[in-house]
Amino acid sequence: MCGIVGYIGNKQASKIIIDGLKRLEYRGYDSAGIATLNGKIQLNKGKGKVANLEKMIGDSQNGSIGIGHTRWATHGEPNDINSHPHISQNGKLALVHNGIIENYNTLKKKLNDQGYEFYSETDTEVVAKLIESFLEKDSSSLKKAVQLALHQVTGTYGIALVHSDFPDQIIVARKGSPLLLGVGDGEMLIASDASAVAAYTDKVVYLDDGEIAVITKDDYTVESSDQVELTKEIHELALSLEEIEKGGYDHFMLKEIFEQPKAISDCLRGRINAEEGTITLGGIENVMDQLVNANRIVIAACGTSWHSGLVGEYLFEYLAKVPVEVEYASEFRYKEQLIGEGDVMIVISQSGETADTLAALREAQSRGALVLGVVNVVGSTIARETDAGVYIHAGPEIGVASTKAFTAQVTVLTLMAIRLGLEKGTIKKEEAQKLIKELALIPSKIESILENTDHIEHISRLFSYAPNFLYLGRSYSFPVALEGALKLKEISYIHAEGYPAAEMKHGPIALIDEMMPVVVIAATHHTNDKMISNIEEVKARKGRIIAITTSENGEVSDLAEFSTIIPATMDVFSPLLSVIPLQLLSYYVAVNRGCNVDQPRNLAKSVTVE
Ligand code: AGP
Repeated sequence: MCGIVGYIGNKQASKIIIDGLKRLEYRGYDSAGIATLNGKIQLNKGKGKVANLEKMIGDSQNGSIGIGHTRWATHGEPNDINSHPHISQNGKLALVHNGIIENYNTLKKKLNDQGYEFYSETDTEVVAKLIESFLEKDSSSLKKAVQLALHQVTGTYGIALVHSDFPDQIIVARKGSPLLLGVGDGEMLIASDASAVAAYTDKVVYLDDGEIAVITKDDYTVESSDQVELTKEIHELALSLEEIEKGGYDHFMLKEIFEQPKAISDCLRGRINAEEGTITLGGIENVMDQLVNANRIVIAACGTSWHSGLVGEYLFEYLAKVPVEVEYASEFRYKEQLIGEGDVMIVISQSGETADTLAALREAQSRGALVLGVVNVVGSTIARETDAGVYIHAGPEIGVASTKAFTAQVTVLTLMAIRLGLEKGTIKKEEAQKLIKELALIPSKIESILENTDHIEHISRLFSYAPNFLYLGRSYSFPVALEGALKLKEISYIHAEGYPAAEMKHGPIALIDEMMPVVVIAATHHTNDKMISNIEEVKARKGRIIAITTSENGEVSDLAEFSTIIPATMDVFSPLLSVIPLQLLSYYVAVNRGCNVDQPRNLAKSVTVE
């Protein structure tokens, strides 16, 4: 996600744009930039936060029309040259973008053939030059050139652009990335969300997908994708600024839980073809042979990322028949090192900066292993030091408790395991088609879980003061049990333990009594019968059973005191669904306990120390 702000009116645009960008930094903070018009484009941009940009420009940025951007990198590392705005070859057009242009390579080649050169690695620069190429043919209308260019683009965008030959207008267009207009008196603003305009107006117009708007300081017109002029409703802003930055949610963690359908859709975008039964993972295609011939895969990570690695173990072993070992990165780096040539390490890290994971990566590389990254933050240290990798495209995760990064990591590991299975022939095309078809349904299945959270809130109220929790699961649900326990521990400060369900009878069952809430994750077909036996064992000792199960497991629901029903899916995908109620349970318990959900005590979002 990135943040976009624009202004056209009678005031100095730069101050309003900088203020707006600061309010959007939660959407990304890799780099920031601004372009204003004062006879010609004045462009300032660079790596780092908006405050760095503010210092860079001082009072030097002139003009009462301009656009600004704070970046969450998706294509091209966070550095000066890749930061937005991006400009046309003739320097007359400046453009900012939020989204992913899937066919940017094809367009770039076509523009190269027309003599256009590129200075950055971004997909955004391609859009700027594509618009320029249409203006070269017909310079009468900037809007028309933008429409023609966008008809050639596949992917998602929210764009804003200015052009020195059209100094009285800003053009914006949206498809898949939010954009709104702030309607002022003798001035207009544009932004990715209302927090950037709320200080200047409470009247906003939300653009919908496919729409393009031409904005002047006194007016605006909006057209649909088939060039029909639209009359858009003006909404009154009712949210406080603080709330708006969280998109109306009370906490970033809750917002990020609810962002998971979009995060997984973004993670899948441009990578799956259900009809063909194919998966394309550009970041690892050139090391596929080494993956196919790997003696084993060692997964190294910490915390929640280690839990997604455990899911990865089941996935790679089942789909690609390759032995997998999952290591705590902190343990791996100090044990007898047997890793070497022919081994593959996969390091998983949301932040891409976790010290132990980085150390494990370097250790494995120094011994000749191929190291792949599954990372969220583009251009982070781990992403840059791995030999290859796959970004999870989950967008900024602000809440310390990781939620959407976990499901996006598991999604990437699933894609990698299917891709490797196809390459090795351990899964056939027909199976891949079935798998990918179901995987494509996961975002909507998560959506359906998120539509009704009242019963989870109810359960959380009953158990917010339990001294301990147990989480039990088998197979794919065992890592989910660990993840659910970690979520509860780290934000509610209640002691919780995840355990393989069958292991209970080897000791921990002594903990069970009527004071012990036991969360059982019974969401995988092939272990269901055994889970029922484990539930019976807990019930016989008066444990308070909270089941996460599917509508197909009626017997589990009958046995449990409380049940959360999730949509049925293939076992391999069950973690993507069964984890959602556990995230919500931990969130509501923490809120009931008055805990600081987004910044729990003693914790940090990225552990860059050993
Ligand atoms: C997860 O909720 C925690 N915040 C923590 O365990 C985290 O997953 C761990 O520190 C690893 O971080 P990383 O994914 O950025 O490497």
